[in-house]
Amino acid sequence: CGIVGIVGQKPVAPLIVDALKRLEYRGYDSAGVATIEGGRLDRRRAEGKLVNLEHCIQASPLPGKIGIGHTRWATHGVPNETNAHPHFSGDVAVVHNGIIENFVELRDELAADGYAFYSQTDTEVVAHLVARELKNGLEPEKAAFAALKRLQGAFALAIMFRNDDNLIVGARNGPPLAVGHGTGEMYLGSDAIALAPFTDSITYLEDGDWVVLRRSGVSIFNMDGKPVERKMQQSSATAFMVDKGNHRHFMEKEIHEQPEVISHTLAHYVDFANVTVKNFESPIDFARIDRLSISACGTAYLAGLIGKYWFERYARLPVDIDIASEFRYREMPISKNSAAMFVSQSGETADTLASLRYCKNEGVPIASIVNVRDSTIARESNGIFPTLAGPEIGVASTKAFTCQLSIFASLAVRAGLDRGTLTKDQASTLIRELSEVPRLVREASKLEDKIEKIARKLSEVRHVLYLGRDTSYPLAMEGALKLKEISYIHAEGYAAGELKHGPIALIDKHMPVIVIAPYDRIFEKTVSNMQEVAARGGQIILITDEEGASRASLGDIETIIMPKVPEFVTPIVYALPIQLLAYHTAVAMGTDVDQPRNLAKSVTVE
Ligand code: G6P
Repeated sequence: CGIVGIVGQKPVAPLIVDALKRLEYRGYDSAGVATIEGGRLDRRRAEGKLVNLEHCIQASPLPGKIGIGHTRWATHGVPNETNAHPHFSGDVAVVHNGIIENFVELRDELAADGYAFYSQTDTEVVAHLVARELKNGLEPEKAAFAALKRLQGAFALAIMFRNDDNLIVGARNGPPLAVGHGTGEMYLGSDAIALAPFTDSITYLEDGDWVVLRRSGVSIFNMDGKPVERKMQQSSATAFMVDKGNHRHFMEKEIHEQPEVISHTLAHYVDFANVTVKNFESPIDFARIDRLSISACGTAYLAGLIGKYWFERYARLPVDIDIASEFRYREMPISKNSAAMFVSQSGETADTLASLRYCKNEGVPIASIVNVRDSTIARESNGIFPTLAGPEIGVASTKAFTCQLSIFASLAVRAGLDRGTLTKDQASTLIRELSEVPRLVREASKLEDKIEKIARKLSEVRHVLYLGRDTSYPLAMEGALKLKEISYIHAEGYAAGELKHGPIALIDKHMPVIVIAPYDRIFEKTVSNMQEVAARGGQIILITDEEGASRASLGDIETIIMPKVPEFVTPIVYALPIQLLAYHTAVAMGTDVDQPRNLAKSVTVE
């Protein structure tokens, strides 16, 4: 979800909606704004996309020079207008990100005290708690503080009071919250991007901080109520709304940006002139560690899984890879001689951040691959490897993924050199292969017409199986994930060799099986698995190269023929056809490609 708050000099509702647009990637199942005007607290809320709220405000304008707004990704309670924020209790208005874990206990207590609940959200308890403290005679700031102390869980909050139109209280414990400093105006936002049109002077709150915003300035306190100093920094977030250019969707634009952004990212890490990986300031000394732990969520996790294959193969470095939501509770013993890496496009994913903090407690060096440089994960790491993908707006990750892979590939070569497992010659060969990636990705994108035709057929099925071996196995999982996310087709990614241990039971003539199999040393093994599918009437869509296509000899199957790609870099280049397949399938089905149902781009709750 996204939060915005403004104590301003002119009507704020349009400004808040504008800022919410920049946060819409965080959640878009409902939205709302509340303002105070002439001692009256009022709000507009709407189910669905932000545009619905915009229409609602156009039809019934909301005056007032102070306001808070919210775009929601439902946790407690279905996405409808009643559950949309801001929530009111008496003179108090609240917007909230995250989850109040003790909300059942608080709700029962408040209900026993006579407070009525209108929504199914956990947020309403916050509004009631503050209202009760006000009723008990506390001043607004003190009432907010007293209520905050009762809350458990992860939250970012903005609270407003009907009888003080020069006050917003913000609080952070988990999901990010930033203060923006203006002249005679102050802002609160989930990230610097939201506040970019208003100011570039930003203060990030830390966990446990709460802040009092007035037109004249801000004061930040900790949970003991003591004032704390947090430094103000210049944000580099751009005020311009990123636009789709000539593309129908952000996802399409982002897919086609890949040759360029991969090239930028590689150039940051690889010295192509001297054929080596740059000696960047890594907090991890790859020569010294004997284990590396990687955790992440979603697509970033699958990038990490491919990273594991590379680190183990080229640097002989054992890698533990975990889904962050599992890692954080798994109580894995971390040896002193290890290091941890985290991968996150947004740099805000709650489970990934919690895993990072677990490792930090264990005292091992931490490096993160992030796309947002001033994100929480970036700030809490000992060092970062930024992806130079530029803002990624489409909810389904594409260019961030291939840039994450480009970094893992570069780091694996660096680690191989540092650990003496690659000779200079071997490393030079790998680096030359890396330098080919942007060109190969561009060539792969020329297959779009052919892929679109296949996608039209795919849009008619309900289930798809994706198979691959070696690094094509995590890529098969990514192919399945992309398809699920945006076309809502049930898809599973499997290791090709595992087919016979279960999923083969699903094969019939209605079940397309997409096989990622570049011609390599294990190609024949994958062909055997395809034979098993063909023998059972399954329809095969094979993604391979000329050599693979001519050797597969499977009769009449769909084939996507890729350029010849060096084995090392295949997952980066083969990402293109799987992204395009998902994209065109979704377009053929008419789904909302950039904002698919139920998903959010940045998930700051568990
Ligand atoms: C969400 C997105 C996924 C993304 C995952 C991890 O679920 O929908 O596309 O891969 O979060 O996000 P992160 O920002 O940590 O890479």
